[in-house]
Amino acid sequence: MGNRSKRTVPEHVAIIMDGNGRWAQARGKPRLFGHHAGARRVREIVESCPDLGVKYLTIFAFSTENWQRTQAEVSGLMKLFKRYLMSETKELVTEGICVRFIGDRMKLDETLVALMDEVELLTCDNDRVNLTIALNYGGRDEVARATKRLSRDVAAGKVDPEDVDDETLASYLDTYVLPDPDLVIRTSGEARISNFLLWQSAYAEYEFVDTLWPDFTRDEFASVLSKFSTRERRYGAVPG
Ligand code: FPP
Repeated sequence: MGNRSKRTVPEHVAIIMDGNGRWAQARGKPRLFGHHAGARRVREIVESCPDLGVKYLTIFAFSTENWQRTQAEVSGLMKLFKRYLMSETKELVTEGICVRFIGDRMKLDETLVALMDEVELLTCDNDRVNLTIALNYGGRDEVARATKRLSRDVAAGKVDPEDVDDETLASYLDTYVLPDPDLVIRTSGEARISNFLLWQSAYAEYEFVDTLWPDFTRDEFASVLSKFSTRERRYGAVPG
């Protein structure tokens, strides 16, 4: 605990990349234009992580609720994810980025899942930055899926219900290999969690910035991180 509260750079930053649609609409363009600009920003922010000392970056690309958008926007986003993975994989490998996906893959199309599996496999030995992309992800859905798997193991006699504690449940979550986020950033002026990393963010700091995601630069990212470094984190304890 002591070590954690003295850390000045957040080890794990999670970002809700909001505001692509409004950014595009302000320019008289379709919403997908904003998502493409948002994807370019993803690259800049990921590339800035080693210099800024961020070891884990988790980004919210598509939520379990995003299926409710128009069919055109959903299929445009899916195409964008595929294109992004096809065009960026080589660079991700050479830049030492380890890519993982969290979320339910069952509802995603086969071609996309195959690309996700491929990039995970090709980058799994990297450890300069750990990039986790939340795709068809919802915090409640993740806890429900984890509970289902845990229940199966209880029913099969592999887990004693008396031994189940928070660490047990955490080990069944999609994020089981990741540390909890230290800082969650949401862009575009909305101050909501929107079902993102509900369990994992129990002690995270939150930072809400007005900038729309396609305008969120590396410099602004750096300034949000330096604001974090001035805060004292107590994890429920009294100040020492
Ligand atoms: C929220 O903005 C953004 C999304 C639902 C999609 C996020 C996707 C990207 C940034 C594209 C690239 C991602 C990867 C991993 C390549 P919004 O559409 O809700 O904006 P609005 O609130 O202004 O309508």
